[in-house]
Amino acid sequence: MPKRVRHDSKEGSSGESEKRTSCGERIDVATLLEQRNELLKMFEGMERNQHTLEKMVAALKHELEVKNNELRRKNRMVILGEMAACLAHEIRNQLGGLELSAKLLKRDVEGDTRKEKPLEVILTAVAELNTLVGDMLTYTGNLVPRKEPVSIETVLARALSISRRELERANVCVVKNVPPGAPQIEIDPEMIGRVFVNIIINAAHAMPEGGTLVIEARLGDSALTVAFSDTGCGLPPEAETKLFTPFFTTKAQGTGLGLAIAYRMVREAHGGSIEGTSKADGGAVFTVRLPLTPQSGAATV
Ligand SMILES: Nc1ncnc2c1ncn2[C@@H]1O[C@H](COP(=O)(O)OP(=O)(O)OP(=O)(O)O)[C@@H](O)[C@H]1O
Ligand SMILES: [Mg+2]
Repeated sequence: MPKRVRHDSKEGSSGESEKRTSCGERIDVATLLEQRNELLKMFEGMERNQHTLEKMVAALKHELEVKNNELRRKNRMVILGEMAACLAHEIRNQLGGLELSAKLLKRDVEGDTRKEKPLEVILTAVAELNTLVGDMLTYTGNLVPRKEPVSIETVLARALSISRRELERANVCVVKNVPPGAPQIEIDPEMIGRVFVNIIINAAHAMPEGGTLVIEARLGDSALTVAFSDTGCGLPPEAETKLFTPFFTTKAQGTGLGLAIAYRMVREAHGGSIEGTSKADGGAVFTVRLPLTPQSGAATV
């Protein structure tokens, strides 16, 4: 028995809006239109879903690519780390022998400045090479932060005290602006202190004729940001792509590992970010962003 589709409109009662199928079944046109609109709506919804799904797939693909790159980089770092450890062992052994011999010789020629001078040059070179080997090991090594709640003011004060000689030598005036009562944050004070020291000493090197270094800490909802703004020469043009890559340096005595190490310490060990830019009015600004943890938000200085 064909099922009659009910229609309440006037036309319906006069039969104008009703049609029959080839089998004689009665069809209500308004109901058909309604069903068609519903189908259209369904298609639109499906289209929107497809769009959303496509976006999700693209985002997941991107995330996968980032993760794969990160994994490749980590694998490279492991190989580099092993190589660096072997090299460091050999180099340090040789440096140890060289240092001992130079020190013994220096003792023998004590008071003879003409003979003492070249030995001092050797000892300085040995010390610099030891620092380079140490930096290489830090850069390629596994960075495991030892986090503890600390006040950023304390970490900054210590970094400034370590850098004091360089700042004084360059006649740099430091202006520090840390909000009073800033909460303690969960960081490795040694690592972040080292990052700050490198940024401060870099700023001093960029202002050999003197200048001002403004250090400003800002507390946001999810992170603490520390900005170091100097009035120096500004970043070199290659900095845009090379600033945080190992061995990029424009200094005769630089190893170019300072910012590469800082990058790993801030990003990998603390999940933060670090960036450096030249300022329009001259000088450079380095910004370190450290995420706040739930514990760090609770305790105050
Ligand atoms: N505040 C700054 N102003 C101008 N240039 C800077 C500044 N900070 C860093 N740079 C540039 O970035 C380069 C890399 O800095 P990085 O700290 O990595 O190495 P470095 O200071 O040269 O050597 P080191 O390994 O001893 O730190 C510097 O050589 C310098 O050219
Ligand atoms: Mg440096």
